[in-house]
Amino acid sequence: MRTPFRSKIAGIGSYLPKKILSNSDLEKMVETNDQWIRERTGIERRHLAAEGEYTSDLCLHATERALQDAKMNSSDLDLILIATSTPDQVMPNTATVLQHKLGISGIPCLDVSAACSGFVYALSVADQFIRTGTYKNILIVGAEILHRMVNYKDRETCILFGDGAGAWIMTQTDFDSPDGLFSTHLRANGEVGDLFILPAGGSKIPYSQEVLDKGQHYVMMKGREIFRHAVRTMTECCQLALKSNSIQSEQVDWVVPHQANVRILDSVAEHFGIPKEKVIVSLRETGNTSAASIPLAFDMGVREGKIKRGQMILIAAFGAGLTSGSALMRY
Ligand SMILES: CC(C)(COP(=O)(O)OP(=O)(O)OC[C@H]1O[C@@H](n2cnc3c(N)ncnc32)[C@H](O)[C@@H]1OP(=O)(O)O)[C@@H](O)C(=O)NCCC(=O)NCCS
Repeated sequence: MRTPFRSKIAGIGSYLPKKILSNSDLEKMVETNDQWIRERTGIERRHLAAEGEYTSDLCLHATERALQDAKMNSSDLDLILIATSTPDQVMPNTATVLQHKLGISGIPCLDVSAACSGFVYALSVADQFIRTGTYKNILIVGAEILHRMVNYKDRETCILFGDGAGAWIMTQTDFDSPDGLFSTHLRANGEVGDLFILPAGGSKIPYSQEVLDKGQHYVMMKGREIFRHAVRTMTECCQLALKSNSIQSEQVDWVVPHQANVRILDSVAEHFGIPKEKVIVSLRETGNTSAASIPLAFDMGVREGKIKRGQMILIAAFGAGLTSGSALMRY
């Protein structure tokens, strides 16, 4: 829809908990080794939230940094969106908890559930509200404490996931302004939703002793099949973003993809025809942080002096569902 507005990033911030779980730590917990993890995933360590630290706390740290970067106060916000699969609790949503921790009240608060694609989904929701002129300043946070949903006896999943949060403040700009978000594309393929699940805790399998005995409160995954889908859907989403904006891949300065496995990122770069050096990789330090991974990688890219204002950025995500999405913007 053509309106007088588009959205752009006013400020960014991220937060990683202090505690680190390294590959050599994992060697002591399951039958694995540092070399296998590095070679098959690219991950070297992950950060884990401390006892008593909740998803809303990670959100708060990342938000405070994003507000500072945007030179705004929490009272400037019109809407809070949190992308997460690991909320503080099922109800109320974590966005309302964050609102309270920010010391504000009244503005709408919504959790977006689209697993690892959640941040791109939330970005798209924010963009629609800004384009229509409904809201001016929107906080989006991708945040996860995944280590509490992981079985540290399952070597295929426990090596992958970590905790963290990344926040963006999106604000309104003129449609004709040279920077800002050009498009978002969202997709989902529910028919392969069983490839990556957390079975218990919903209306289908409420918590019980049997759930705990069977380990249904942990994530379960068919890794090899997800890998195949991830490469295909992320490549397609990237192509869609460029085609709809009549942009060539050479015009993209940086690709910021969901950080699941470095081999997935290399494969997407190859299929998409973009040099590996133009892909931001942060998973060495963080592992897969699901909905937090894109804003964490973006923030790391900015802090390392790679991503600069005015550059063309392509964002690509995939996750449980299987959901996927892309976004194209000039930062
Ligand atoms: C999980 C993943 C790292 C496994 O890598 P892979 O190359 O596909 O490995 P495979 O599943 O083919 O397993 C190869 C062997 O390594 C073993 N293996 C699995 N995990 C291991 C570990 N942590 N340490 C050592 N060996 C391991 C397997 O048992 C298998 O052994 P076998 O050949 O004797 O049967 C990879 O498939 C992946 O990253 N998938 C995507 C997962 C993902 O992104 N999930 C989240 C979605 S957002």
